[in-house]
Amino acid sequence: MTIRITGTGSALPEKIVTNFDLQELVETSDEWIRERTGIAQRRISMGETVATLSAAACQRALEMAGKTAEEVELILVATCSPEMLLPCCACQVQDIIGASHAAAFDLNAACSGFLFALNTAYAYMQSGIYKNALIVGSEVLSKLVDWSDRGTCVLFGDGAGAAFVEASAEDIVRDNGRKVGMECMVQGSDGTKGMVLSCAERPVDNAFISEKQTISPYIQMNGQEVYKFATRQVPACIHQALDKAGITAEDVDMFVLHQANVRIIESVAKRLKADISKFPMNLDKIGNMSSATIPVLLDELNRGGRIQDGNRLVLSGFGAGLTYGATVIVW
Ligand code: UT7
Repeated sequence: MTIRITGTGSALPEKIVTNFDLQELVETSDEWIRERTGIAQRRISMGETVATLSAAACQRALEMAGKTAEEVELILVATCSPEMLLPCCACQVQDIIGASHAAAFDLNAACSGFLFALNTAYAYMQSGIYKNALIVGSEVLSKLVDWSDRGTCVLFGDGAGAAFVEASAEDIVRDNGRKVGMECMVQGSDGTKGMVLSCAERPVDNAFISEKQTISPYIQMNGQEVYKFATRQVPACIHQALDKAGITAEDVDMFVLHQANVRIIESVAKRLKADISKFPMNLDKIGNMSSATIPVLLDELNRGGRIQDGNRLVLSGFGAGLTYGATVIVW
């Protein structure tokens, strides 16, 4: 049995906010942001929501796959910034696109969310429960960012990416002898380090509590700790995934990594002893969109004709939780 991505889509807010715009808000500079992160601009919502961006990305993925919304069996939305606690974003997407036969739920693994959702769909399909799924990574982080905190507000952006995944009974073998589909996945979490990147929801409050708690509703981050985690854990889990698939970094055509920081990506490339040209990047234009970065980049590469049939891709991410994952796919 083969499980493959047959459609990709993405949606970004119209509004572009440059580093120069941020200079007007906090004590920072275009030079600092570019040198430390590689980011030059990001898209910021002026009303687009996690649900509307997700739905637009899903519609594009379905169109590419040549499927109708009614054929979708499962919708998984990975997000840490939904507008609504109830209903979940996946059910909102189901409603907007008209996927009346799908089961739909959200999943939060922060920046690793798209991968965790893809792996969840993979498990459902391997066990024969569903034959297809829409997998989405979607965020409007701009509402979780403290716009007076220069340590975080320069990093994040808003957007959504989606992939349509299908199971097929017959193996598809490409000209280079590689079998199409997901080859293996590795995922993990380290909750002991959770507070290095956090964002609180409402505190416990009810009719029986007289002392009210006050909490910051914004993203708090120890950037250096997250950096250390990413540069150690991402290459380690990619190595694990490569070992599991019985291949080496040389057998991989493209590493589609979470787009958080160009220095993190360069460090991963170095540790894997892989050429940096195998690591496509788009974070200069759209910043870190958490769960959306991997599917948005995947869609950009796919639509731009940069992924050839038979290419082997490693998708890998890390994020709050802390969470991490790597998935090996032959296109
Ligand atoms: O999806 C996961 C999300 N998170 C991440 O990926 C974060 C990973 N970490 C990073 O990318 C980096 O740690 C940052 C880009 C966040 C920060 O870069 P850094 O090289 O680790 O800088 P730093 O935190 O050590 O700060 C160096 C200096 C500090 O000033 P002092 O104490 O040396 O005077 C900061 O206050 O840079 C200052 N600084 C800034 N200066 C100008 C911090 N943010 C800014 C800013 N503009 N935006």
